[in-house]
Amino acid sequence: MNLDALFRLHRDLPRQGPGSDRATLEALGALPPLPPSPFGLDLGCGPGKQTLLLARRLGCPILAVDLHRPFLDELESRARDAGLSHLVQTRCADMGRLDIAPGSVDLIWSEGAIYNLGFEQGLRLWRPLLRENGLVMASELTWLTPTPPDEVETFWQQAYPGMGDIAGNCEAAERAGYRVLDARPLPSAEWWPDYYAPLEERCRMLAEDPMPGLADAIAAARAEIDLLRRFPDAYGYVYYSLKAA
Ligand SMILES: C[S@@+](CC[C@H](N)C(=O)[O-])C[C@H]1O[C@@H](n2cnc3c(N)ncnc32)[C@H](O)[C@@H]1O
Repeated sequence: MNLDALFRLHRDLPRQGPGSDRATLEALGALPPLPPSPFGLDLGCGPGKQTLLLARRLGCPILAVDLHRPFLDELESRARDAGLSHLVQTRCADMGRLDIAPGSVDLIWSEGAIYNLGFEQGLRLWRPLLRENGLVMASELTWLTPTPPDEVETFWQQAYPGMGDIAGNCEAAERAGYRVLDARPLPSAEWWPDYYAPLEERCRMLAEDPMPGLADAIAAARAEIDLLRRFPDAYGYVYYSLKAA
């Protein structure tokens, strides 16, 4: 996939993965209270819609990490507009190799990004960063039925062969050193307002654009969107809330 074309398609979308403000706040509400003056990370933050919600709700410093500098630029601009620059710091870095003191983090947040490391592997890599009783909330694409239609299974076997189900991911989290507090699916209707609907509109806007690789990127996005439209119950994002064990 041509990365320039992919980023052209995705630039300036509200979110870069399925999610909603409601789901972010509900998952935050499912966590136990944080200690006074907590320190939080948002890993694979993208343009950081959820980072700003967390900063506003928690009122604590959040270090937002992403490999793609333009997303961090978007987040910094949004934080300035929202008057939250004093709470949101950004770092262009690999979330699997963070130069952060062990035992220094109270909350690790990550929406739709841990799959880049693998769910269990990501949780293992992040575990040493947490303080005692530290918390993680990571959302992950997850099978919601044991018998997905063949078409869906074939698509995701190719696109994300590591996808697990809720029970398997909870076991993986326990193996990685966590206690599972909560696992709640994002309703499929909430994929649309901040992600699939604006992405679909972007596909329409750029349909005639001759940029190399763009037609392939648009076709891939449309195929993924079409799959969820037809099979909204077979798979979904699940918000896993975990506590360091
Ligand atoms: C699907 S997007 C989700 C972004 C954001 N959390 C959201 O929900 O809008 C995944 C993000 O992870 C970032 N990413 C992928 N691999 C990464 C890595 N190893 N370290 C840091 N960020 C990474 C991508 O640049 C992208 O912004």
